[in-house]
Amino acid sequence: MLAGAVQCGYCMPGMIMATKALLDQNPDPDTPEIKRALAHNLCRCTGYVKIFDAVKLAGRFLRGETTPEQMRPAPGSSMFGVSHPRPSALLKACGLAEFTADIKLQDAVEVAVVRSTEPHAVIKSIDTTTAEKMPGVIGFMTAKDIKGTNRLKMLFPDQPILCEDKVRTLGDPIAVVAAERKDLARAAAAAVRVDYEPLPVIGTTGKGLADGAVRIHNEWPNLCYRPPQIKGDAEKALAESAHVVEADSNTYEGLKKAGKPIRYLGTKKNEDEGTLDPETGQGPSFEVQVHDIQMAEVEVDTETGDVRVIKMTTTVDAGPVIHPQNLEGQLEGGMDQGVGYALREEYIHGQTKDWLTFKFPTMKTSFESEVITRETPRVKGTLGATGIGEMTMVPTAPAVINAIKDACDIRIYNLPALPKKIKAALAAGK
Ligand code: FES
Repeated sequence: MLAGAVQCGYCMPGMIMATKALLDQNPDPDTPEIKRALAHNLCRCTGYVKIFDAVKLAGRFLRGETTPEQMRPAPGSSMFGVSHPRPSALLKACGLAEFTADIKLQDAVEVAVVRSTEPHAVIKSIDTTTAEKMPGVIGFMTAKDIKGTNRLKMLFPDQPILCEDKVRTLGDPIAVVAAERKDLARAAAAAVRVDYEPLPVIGTTGKGLADGAVRIHNEWPNLCYRPPQIKGDAEKALAESAHVVEADSNTYEGLKKAGKPIRYLGTKKNEDEGTLDPETGQGPSFEVQVHDIQMAEVEVDTETGDVRVIKMTTTVDAGPVIHPQNLEGQLEGGMDQGVGYALREEYIHGQTKDWLTFKFPTMKTSFESEVITRETPRVKGTLGATGIGEMTMVPTAPAVINAIKDACDIRIYNLPALPKKIKAALAAGK
């Protein structure tokens, strides 16, 4: 809690059990020892950085070097710019917090969803006869029971609430079963028989856009939206820039060697939010944007093609920082997810089934992080601040791919940059 390690809290009880076992044996572990002891515990939120901090802090408590009271913000300290423990952190750490699925409403029926087991198929029939006779079953709902259009809209009203004629992805919802208990609803949902006629699977953007590709939505082309692009005027932008750096290398070390400054202070003029330009598809910038720049330091094993991220540095301006620990945690976790996207995470239909085959980022692959903040107040932001959200994931993959290019002069265009792609690019010399 005091180290800011509890984000969603889902992994915490397991982390705490493994930490207790470690600290019982070794009350002063270093980071490699923590990595080994907690190697089988996964966390999706934190990037593991704050978890290492938390284990070390627990060790300090056990060794009597400090106390939780000393580590807490002083009573009465400001709620702005001070890292108070999250109010829900204790409940989450103890496994007592209620997640949405834990919430029970009195006398409410329980429902389970029948989901598609096919990635792309025509629904020929839905047979509920066996499921209807099962204990505790109250009723079923399919697309024909939904009033209105049965469509949800993001860009276009193209997503059925319950699929009526075809399914377009694994897990598409087809029917809902209501029963007296959750387990009975799930059993009945598993007994619903759906007869499919499989259609070609479109597994990549390229396949979806290819000539003659089967249409995913009968009434819409596969390319649903083409955002206008502007190319800008690079010469003019350079002429107007406060700083222009010219160097052969784009790495930190390269800049240092070239005798160039390595940190710059930049400003960006923000204008009022306005309407989109129909030609460019862009509007004037507005004050609540967040700005983030990242740099990756990587090690590439040119024999095996393995890439290891050693360190990520991020510099972010999200306005005045309300909760420094939460901001850092969000950035560290986002970079970890971004590195996973850049190097490992890949969904292959029929093969990717769980967190092992998906190559989830683990403690073993975690890396050092440095977070640098700038705090430009936003005129329209709450308390001058703006959100950080998942911004931190956006520049990560390009930073990692650029670092690979810098390390061994190959550029990977197809993510994730798996060892076999690195080796192939090295062999091809590009
Ligand atoms: S805090 Fe969310 S999974 Fe670890």
